[in-house]
Order: sequence, then C-alpha cells, then structure tokens
Amino acid sequence: MTNSLQNKNILVTGGAGFIGCALSQRLAAECKRYVAVDSLLAQVHPQQIRPTDLHAAAELVVADVTQPKTWTDLFAEFRPDIVVHLAAETGTGQSLKQSTMHGRSNVLGLTVLLDALSKNEIEPEQILCTSSRAVYGEGAWQKENGEIFYPGQRTNAQLASGKWDFDGVSLPSTFGDTRENPTSVYGATKLAQENILKSWSFSFGVPLTLLRLQNVYGPGQSPFNPYTGIVVLFSRLARAKKKVELYEDGLVTRDFVYIDDVVDALVKSVLQSPANGYRALDIGSGEVTTLIDIAQKIGNFHGAPESFISGKYRNGDVRHSSCNIAAAKQELGWQPESNLDKGLSLLQAYLSTVNLVEV
Ligand SMILES: NC(=O)c1ccc[n+]([C@@H]2O[C@H](COP(=O)([O-])OP(=O)(O)OC[C@H]3O[C@@H](n4cnc5c(N)ncnc54)[C@H](O)[C@@H]3O)[C@@H](O)[C@H]2O)c1
Repeated sequence: MTNSLQNKNILVTGGAGFIGCALSQRLAAECKRYVAVDSLLAQVHPQQIRPTDLHAAAELVVADVTQPKTWTDLFAEFRPDIVVHLAAETGTGQSLKQSTMHGRSNVLGLTVLLDALSKNEIEPEQILCTSSRAVYGEGAWQKENGEIFYPGQRTNAQLASGKWDFDGVSLPSTFGDTRENPTSVYGATKLAQENILKSWSFSFGVPLTLLRLQNVYGPGQSPFNPYTGIVVLFSRLARAKKKVELYEDGLVTRDFVYIDDVVDALVKSVLQSPANGYRALDIGSGEVTTLIDIAQKIGNFHGAPESFISGKYRNGDVRHSSCNIAAAKQELGWQPESNLDKGLSLLQAYLSTVNLVEV
C-alpha cells in the first residue's frame, strides 16, 4: 500500500505524542527516513524518555520546534519530502491561563519551522497539520423556527446562572461552512496555525492538508496529562472505583473518534496529495455522545460507582461539539471503522498496562 513512500523522507513534529506514535506504527517502516521531532514535554511525558509506542524505525530528535537551532541542525542532514505538523500545547482549559505557552509552541513553533524551510530552500511535496474542533467554538445553532444563528461564547454570567444551552440545537460543524469562533486560547492558536499555513503554502505552491480533529481517544493517549483527554480522566477515576464528577448537567456532548480512524485519515492524506493543492477536512466518528453516557460506559466497565453531576463549569468549555464527516469520506475514501464500546475497552486494556500515579 505504501510503495509510494519508499523514497520519501517524512518529518513529524510532535511525533512522540499520542497521535505521532500511532502514526509512526503505520509509516515509519514504509518510508526512507521517518524523523520525529519532539521536546518530550513533561506534562505529556513525565519520564522524558522515548515512548515505547514510537516505532523502532522512527528516528527521534528531542528538540523544541520553537528553537531555530532545532531546524538548522536537522535540515543540515535531512530534507523532508512530507511534513506532518503535530507539535502543540493542547490544554484547552489550561490555555486560558497559560496562553503564552500555547502561543509560543503553537504559533511561534510553526513560524520558526516555516522560516527554516524557506531558509533551507525546502518546499515539501505536502504539509499536513492536525487542527482542532476547538476552532469552531460553539459553532452554528438552529432555532425552533429553522433560523441558523451563531451564539458566540457562553458568558461567565450565563454559566454562573446554570443556563448551559443556548435556545436551539447545536449543528454539526463543517469546514468551509461553519464560521470559526474559538472560545479558548488553544482554539485560537489552532486557527492561527491554519491561517499561517494557508498563507505560506499558497504563496509557495506547497500542497496543504488541514484536518480538524474532534476528541481523539484510544490506547497510547498520555494517561498523565491532566489537561487533555476526558476519556482517560474518566477511565482513571473509574478504575480507581471513584465517582466521576460531571460538570454542568452532564449533557455536554462530544464526538469521540478512535485513534486508529484518525491515523487512517492521516495516512490516506499522506499517500494522496490534495488534487488542487489544498484540502481542509473534519475528522470525527460522525456520532455524538453525552459525557454522562461515556462516564456510564466507562464506569460499568470497571464496576465503579455512579457518576455524579456537580453543576460546576469551566470557562471556555464548549457545550456541544460534533462535525460533518461527509467531505473527508469523499475526498479521502475514508470511513471511521471503530465503535465506541470496542474503542473504550481497548483503551481500558491499555491503561491497565500503565503504571499510574494516584488520581
Ligand atoms: N488528541 C486530540 O483529541 C486532538 C484533537 C484535535 C487536535 N489535536 C491536535 O493533534 C496534534 C497532536 O495531538 P496529540 O493528541 O498527539 O497530543 P500529545 O500531547 O500527545 O502530542 C503532542 C506532542 O507535541 C510535543 N510538543 C509540544 N510542544 C512542543 C514543542 N514546542 N517542540 C517540540 N515538541 C513539542 C509534545 O511533547 C507531545 O509529544 C496537536 O497538534 C493537537 O492540537 C489533537
């Protein structure tokens, strides 16, 4: 399947992370050289060592994408044909209080990489970047009378009064159709990444693929990072036979997409450059799940006590998130294959192999 990669050099920034490791399992042995550049952030990799999930054929360069020297050193001996940009600070709630950290890695890190490509006269055959559902914020909603509206961001006063929803129903977001309106600094930096990449790639004629991912879950997800991965957080609590605390009224919804499906979309994108030089796709399972449902599924798995609704809330949290995956199916010939129950049980099996500290 991947014959076309045999002569390709692939650079994956953030390549030692959750998605990067899973991607390495599919591509590292298939291409000429596969180089993962990753600073091994302590929040994600508390032991700061090469993850066992990173394929043995992947070369790991432990370095920070924001440092020009990272690229001076690397590009002196490695010229990537394909760049997959995954490196990012990913704490949605955290980003509101540590915005500089998010801006630095996500925005500056990307521009430093692009400058280094220019300086070394490297015009890759394709750049791919994983953007996020977070760029939509609350996205578009529909009133009972059919009118579509953009509610913007829930205010602190609205959340404090317990009015969780707007008046209407949230619609699945669609790249190119749904207006972006990030409600977190993280989301804003992901949107900035998209815009920066579009300007650069269009100017130099470098084909670009942007994939806006919904909530990715599955084996290999950092069980240590307290700021991402609600499925992992719930799993850790349930495994410890603790009650899962649900914010708001427990009816917050997300699209949980299994890691293998996300990697499949990435691999298909790597293998087949966008026909017109650019594509931007939503990647999710296409299904919507409430947090109370997912907490119950995970709780049942471990025989944990019932979850409880605390009515607490987090500023910047989006009430509902889902997307339309029709364009990805058509453009990539891709289809999510996993089912939530199976995916959750594979994640539980993975977590049982990890030595976790107290939750
Ligand atoms: N996992 C999800 O649910 C999800 C959803 C939407 C978008 N995304 C995007 O996908 C990408 C990968 O996410 P992930 O889930 O694998 O996260 P992750 O935290 O597991 O991986 C990110 C990796 O980037 C590295 N990194 C961070 N800052 C860096 C820097 N300055 N220099 C070098 N390396 C750095 C980290 O050490 C980590 O290994 C990110 O861009 C994220 O925004 C993920």
